[in-house]
Amino acid sequence: MSKQEGGRDSFTNKFGVIAAAAGSAIGLGNIWRFPYVAGENGGGAFLLLYLLFILAIGVPVMLSELLIGRKAQLNIFGAFRKLAPGSYWPLVGMMGVGAAFMILSFYAVVAGWTLEYTFYAIGNQFAGESPEGIKAIFDELTTASWRPVVFMLLFMALSAFIVRSGVQKGIERYTKILMPLLLVILLGLIFRSLSLDGAMAGVDFLFRPDFSKVDTNTILEALGQAFFSLSLGMGVMATYGSYIKKKESLGKTAISVSLTDTFIAILAGLAIFPAVFSFGLEPGQGPGLVFITLPGIFNQMAGGYYFAIFFFVLLVIAALTSSISLLEVVVAYFVEELKMKRSTATWLAAGVMSALGVVCALNGAVFDFFDRTSSNILLPLGGLLIVLFVGWFLGKQVVRDELEADGRAAFYFRLFVPVIRVLAPIAIALVFLNGLGLLRF
Ligand code: TRP
Repeated sequence: MSKQEGGRDSFTNKFGVIAAAAGSAIGLGNIWRFPYVAGENGGGAFLLLYLLFILAIGVPVMLSELLIGRKAQLNIFGAFRKLAPGSYWPLVGMMGVGAAFMILSFYAVVAGWTLEYTFYAIGNQFAGESPEGIKAIFDELTTASWRPVVFMLLFMALSAFIVRSGVQKGIERYTKILMPLLLVILLGLIFRSLSLDGAMAGVDFLFRPDFSKVDTNTILEALGQAFFSLSLGMGVMATYGSYIKKKESLGKTAISVSLTDTFIAILAGLAIFPAVFSFGLEPGQGPGLVFITLPGIFNQMAGGYYFAIFFFVLLVIAALTSSISLLEVVVAYFVEELKMKRSTATWLAAGVMSALGVVCALNGAVFDFFDRTSSNILLPLGGLLIVLFVGWFLGKQVVRDELEADGRAAFYFRLFVPVIRVLAPIAIALVFLNGLGLLRF
């Protein structure tokens, strides 16, 4: 483990940083949430808005978060307290800690389904099932009261176990090797999905924007998905930023992580939608979409039995590298601000989240409420305050010094400042006003 000035843990090198941040970003958000939300919001037009928000808002927010964390060398709450003493800014950090509880509660439920699917795949339980049969299995699995709860708890325990053992050993190691593997399997899936009968209707759905499907909600959902998928707006990237050494470039990190994450989401869409249309499924059916579609693709693949097992194992791992980042935000806060022992902090946070997770597992309305409220409201609001803080409160010189702390000129600085001062805040505010029905476009 390498220690930074002041004795905090840090990632060993650039690849470690990018791997950990990408590990946080890439997860169920790309493979489960992106296809289901895109499916509900008409496909192509949603994708276009999503890409626009990633570039104009997501990348600048990510860079701002990394910057806050590395500058302050503290958890998200402590960072605001240190950089803006005696102000209300630390409340933004509190909001982030609160959002982490909300997100991980439903996230762990979906991760639990994934875990259970791994066992189904091993038992070859989807073999020969029609799309209706698979849907029945999924419905049964998610409504059987004890099973989703047990698998959710199992997943939460795994996350807590990794977080307890510390940043670098825990987080870096698991991400480096496994993410590239996930990519390979995804490519295999796309290949099969695209060669199914009637697959092109799915490609059309994803890439041909149909603006008649766009309503006020679509725009807000696209923004929420951008924040969710990039792990923004609640302090994950700030917390990870605090573990990044001064000699690394924050700009490069933000760009590579955002692009990789977006690429994976599009690949997931390309694997799912052709199959959705080929099987005659409904793209807008909600959170079950990928869980109902994927087994059908595996059923039609040579070696599908093995692919399925690998895929679900990797998806569980991708979910783990994301859930540990959420848990880490809370644990870093408990340890540094409330002076708890790391293991106490971890088990306490995971315990409370598990209790909330039980409610999400048993009640679809609560699940949905946590899912939408966190992504569409809390994260963009956090992101808005974060860019305003960096742009207006910290100010140009501090931003420049931090971006150039690696000793190289940050050529993007001139673009970055107006974006976080004006463009991104206005864009987020407009989407909000529109989402609340106060402004129509
Ligand atoms: N981005 C992750 C995913 O796509 C989920 C996630 C991890 C997250 N940390 C977050 C979402 C922080 C919002 C905020 O699966």
